[in-house]
Amino acid sequence: MNSKLMLVTGGLGFIGKHFVKSCLAAGHFVTNVDVVNYAADRLANEEFKTHSNYRHIPQDIANLSHLPESDFLVNFAAESHVDNSIADSRQFCQSNIIGVQRLLELVRAKSSREAPLFVHISTDEVYGDIASGRHTTTDPLRPSNPYSATKAAADMLIIGWARTYGIRYNIVRMTNNYGPCQYHEKLIPKSALRMRRGLPALMHGDGSYMRSWLHVEDSVDAILTIMERGEHNTIYNVHGDIELPNVEVLRRLARIFGIPEDKAFIAVPNRVGQDVRYSLDDSPLRALGWKPKRDFDAELAKIAREDDFKRFL
Ligand SMILES: NC(=O)c1ccc[n+]([C@@H]2O[C@H](COP(=O)([O-])OP(=O)(O)OC[C@H]3O[C@@H](n4cnc5c(N)ncnc54)[C@H](O)[C@@H]3O)[C@@H](O)[C@H]2O)c1
Repeated sequence: MNSKLMLVTGGLGFIGKHFVKSCLAAGHFVTNVDVVNYAADRLANEEFKTHSNYRHIPQDIANLSHLPESDFLVNFAAESHVDNSIADSRQFCQSNIIGVQRLLELVRAKSSREAPLFVHISTDEVYGDIASGRHTTTDPLRPSNPYSATKAAADMLIIGWARTYGIRYNIVRMTNNYGPCQYHEKLIPKSALRMRRGLPALMHGDGSYMRSWLHVEDSVDAILTIMERGEHNTIYNVHGDIELPNVEVLRRLARIFGIPEDKAFIAVPNRVGQDVRYSLDDSPLRALGWKPKRDFDAELAKIAREDDFKRFL
């Protein structure tokens, strides 16, 4: 892709910062609207600021009054942790629904020549769980918790705004991402941090819940592939090549740390509304030439060795 104007939101979060890094390396101009919540990586922002092509706007997308000029608006900004949404869903409704509504209104205020392509990062969780087989993008949305309900609502807003106001969009529904420098509330970094400190990891229920794992750099490649070669006003699923029960992820981490399995993790009460399995049919994306390249075990070993806890203090 030639040099583009990228308006990124939530570009200091886990996936967003890897996307920004890749865009800066490719010579794109990046404006990053990020309110800098607890999960934002302040150190990454300092690194990005050394690039003359980078600008950070520390603002809430729900209060944004002006949309800087851009070719693409890539929206990563969201509250993203299911457990937090079960404890209190207000900020999830505010950022994940009202924030998207605000962005859509700003896009539609532009002339069709000036409006960016709205690339919205969504999740496999909008479909709810599936015991066998894979979800396709025409399946109904049956979210199981407040987080996924707000993400499903945002997807619906975008589809409605496209039909009524003619905005151009892509929705990207991805499975669980893993990789370097992820905030330590999610399964892999949280468990690795506890094991590194000699504490057992905490496993929801019996750990039988299946998740598909997608390396964050494979996700970034998928998003860029869709931006470059995807069909507009289309939803794309992005699946990893590896599906594992959570207990198996913990076993593999324990092996990396050399901790016997009976000391590596303990069971804690299961999450309310826990989804048993997510799985996506991503054949339309693979037809564009994308496939995941990173090896789960090799990348897991790198994450286990990394001590990036201080990035978030
Ligand atoms: N992490 C995953 O495994 C995963 C999987 C599928 C989809 N997603 C989706 O991808 C997107 C990014 O996820 P992530 O894991 O990088 O999230 P994250 O929680 O690590 O980061 C979110 C970022 O958005 C910013 N932000 C939050 N609310 C904002 C607001 N109202 N205005 C401006 N900035 C705001 C935060 O400061 C933070 O930097 C989310 O939309 C999430 O739903 C994530």
